[in-house]
Parts: sequence; C-alpha cells; structure tokens
Amino acid sequence: MPATVIVGAQWGDEGKGKIVDLLARDSEVVCRYQGGPNAGHTIVRDGETFKLHHVPSGILYPGTVCVVGAGCVVDPGLLVRELDELEARGIPTEGVRVSGNAHMIMPWHVALDSASERRLGKLQIGTTRRGIGPAYADKAARIGIRVQDILDSKILRQKFETALAEKNVQLERLHDAEPLEVETLADEMEAYAARLRPYVADTSLLVDRAIRDGRHVLLEGAQGTLLDVDHGTYPFVTSSNPVAGAASTGVGIGPTRIDRVLGVAKAYVTRVGEGPFPTEIDGPGQARVRELGAEYGTTTGRERRCGWLDLVALRFAVRVNGMTSLALTKLDVLSAFAEIPVCTRYRLPGGLETDEFPAHQSDFHHAEPVYETLTGWEDSLDAVEELDGLPEAARSYVGFVENALGVEVSLVSIGAERQRVVTPRGLASVAGG
Ligand code: IMP
Repeated sequence: MPATVIVGAQWGDEGKGKIVDLLARDSEVVCRYQGGPNAGHTIVRDGETFKLHHVPSGILYPGTVCVVGAGCVVDPGLLVRELDELEARGIPTEGVRVSGNAHMIMPWHVALDSASERRLGKLQIGTTRRGIGPAYADKAARIGIRVQDILDSKILRQKFETALAEKNVQLERLHDAEPLEVETLADEMEAYAARLRPYVADTSLLVDRAIRDGRHVLLEGAQGTLLDVDHGTYPFVTSSNPVAGAASTGVGIGPTRIDRVLGVAKAYVTRVGEGPFPTEIDGPGQARVRELGAEYGTTTGRERRCGWLDLVALRFAVRVNGMTSLALTKLDVLSAFAEIPVCTRYRLPGGLETDEFPAHQSDFHHAEPVYETLTGWEDSLDAVEELDGLPEAARSYVGFVENALGVEVSLVSIGAERQRVVTPRGLASVAGG
C-alpha cells in the first residue's frame, strides 16, 4: 500500500481537509508535515462540523494514528484545547502522536507576530498572527523550544525563562509592547506539558515502520504551494514548506518512501492576506463567489480574496510538487455563472505572453491574466452522483483543466458533505500514479 502526499496547489484553503478525510477512511496513519495552527481544516460529517487546527483530519476515524510531524510548529495551549474538544464530542484522541522534534509556538511568538505586523504597517504580510513566523525563525536560529523539552519539567522551565528574558526585551524595546509575565506563563506551560506528555513519540520511526509494514499512509500538507517559503510568492508566504518534497523532511522519512502526490485545487482561487493575485475578480463577481463558496477563514474568520482559476499558477504547482493527480474542489460554486473565465497565460510587462509561472517576483507582481472564457452550466449539481452525471459544460471545464495541466483530475468535489465527490475510476485511484 502506498504513501501518498496531499498538497495544496494554490494559496491554501483548497479543501484538503475534506480530501484527507475521505482518503483517511482507508489509511492507518495520517501525518501533518509542516505548519501549525495557521491551518484550519473544516470537515462536515453527518451534518456536524469539525474545525481542526493541529490534529490531522484522520482523527474522525477510530483507530487511525494521527501524527503531527517534526516539520510542524505546535501551540501547546491550542493543541490541548483541540484534544479536549474532540474528547468532549466523543472522538477518542489516543491515536494522536506528536513528534518530539517539532518546535513549540510560545506566547512570545504570538505576541511578536502581531507586534511585527503592526510595525510593518502597510507592508504587512497579513499573517494569521498565530506566531508561526517567529517560531520557525527561532527554530532556524537554533534557540527554539521543542516538544521533547516538555518531557523534563526542569529543562522546560529553564529554557522558558532564558528565552523569555530575551523576548521581553524585544517586545518592550523594539515593539513598545507589554512584556510577558514569567511565573504565570511558566505554570500554564507546565500544565500543558503534563497533558501532552503521553502524546509525544518518535514519529519518524513510527511512520517509516508503518510504510515498511505495507500500511497506507497519508502525508498531509497545510497551506498551499504558493505560500511555500522557498517556492511561493515571497515575502507573502508562510514560514514553512507546504510543497510535497517537504513531506519527507517534515515527517522524517526518505523521499523514496513516497509513492504518489495528490494536489488539491479549487475550481477557482482564493487567497487570504496580502500579496499579488493576478486573477482576483474585479467588481461584484468577487463577493458573489465569496458568498457562494462561504470563503471566510477557518482560523481567522477573515474574508478570502476570490479569483478565477489560474492555470499558469496551477501548472507551476503540478511541476514543483511532482503531482501524480489532482482533486478539483468546490466545482458547485461555479454553477451560478453563465460564463467562467479561466486564466491560461500571463501577459508580462513589455507585452510578452507566457504560460510559465514567472521566476522573478516583479514579473509576477505585474502579470496580467489572459483569459479563455468557458461556458457555464448554470444548473445545480445537488443531484449529481457520478462524473458522467455532471452537466456537459461542467465536464468540459474539468477536461479543459486536465488538458492544460497534463495531469489527471481524479476527484471532483461538488458539495461540502463528505460524500459529495465524484471520481472517474473510484476512490482507490484518487491519488493516481
Ligand atoms: P502565517 O502562516 O500566519 O505566518 O501567514 C503568512 C501568510 O500565509 C498569510 O498571507 C496568511 O493569510 C497565509 N496563510 C497561513 N495559513 C493559511 C491557511 O491555512 N490558508 C490560507 N492562507 C494561510
């Protein structure tokens, strides 16, 4: 049985949670490989909505092992709250395993994230203010506090106090912000540590063994390709690597262990936060897509910016992720439109047209979308049960995407509920390859 990476192909919020939830049914292990509580997965099951930030979506299946990998950053308070809420709703959490090598988001990271955004003013990134950037920065600077530090109260307190002594100076002197109170926070931290200790594990070993034993493993990315710190639209990105290659480092398995890469893209595009967005819709069409698609952030509640499908950016995502197939989500949202523009090329400054994603940020910032207009189907997809049951114009839309990308669309999602998906060859083939 293969190991499959599920990766966001746009700027996040593509509906990965739902696809993971679907595939998790046949998986023994589901792992997150990067990011932290900046991600939010919404899963609708039997009319009940679950919003997860840290715990992989596989948690809703009894017996599934859910791994938070070394490449993630963990906010201990939020993780405790998420575990408590799941338990309170009757979902057991004993299958959750958190890598001891994952770094922790500390209260000063959250405070510094907000302070630095305030300081940037008009140049701000529009982060989720969950402390993601500062936590990854400390990891790279080798002054972070890791999950395994909670295993020893004495070490934890020492590291906590040392770090806070410096961070308070930063908060007060650089950002004119309130310092954090050591004693209260250290006690709070110890309470979280006590709650989280049973979940800490050597997750690299666990996942490698699972793959060697022939178990089906899902490796779940958060955010999306265009938010990747190396390959995305820097500096308007997150501070980790959502791309599929990072699944290997973020979980601690060799790249040769990974068999398939399933990209997830919306049938249109959304973006939260600042930064260039060539196909962002001008005028009332944007609000219409937002309303129809309920495009508000799971984590921050912010309005998402909405745009037409961008095949230049998506082709780039196919390339940098080595995608073996694509899941196209929220096709039903486009049912309201008589005509649907799809961006097939960018026009760059100087008039040159290209279908390759610009390597230089200035070109991307000034890229104008060149659209082909496809005919809409203007018909509800509520009664559709199989791919062939889609209106012809909807099938043409999917076919157009496949041809433009050279990758199979192996799943189309047509509604929020778990079962509202259609596939050409059944669920077993969804990840392709
Ligand atoms: P950060 O990850 O909180 O540092 O935010 C950096 C950028 O990534 C901002 O533009 C956020 O809006 C965006 N971002 C972070 N997480 C998500 C997500 O899960 N979905 C969509 N955008 C995200």
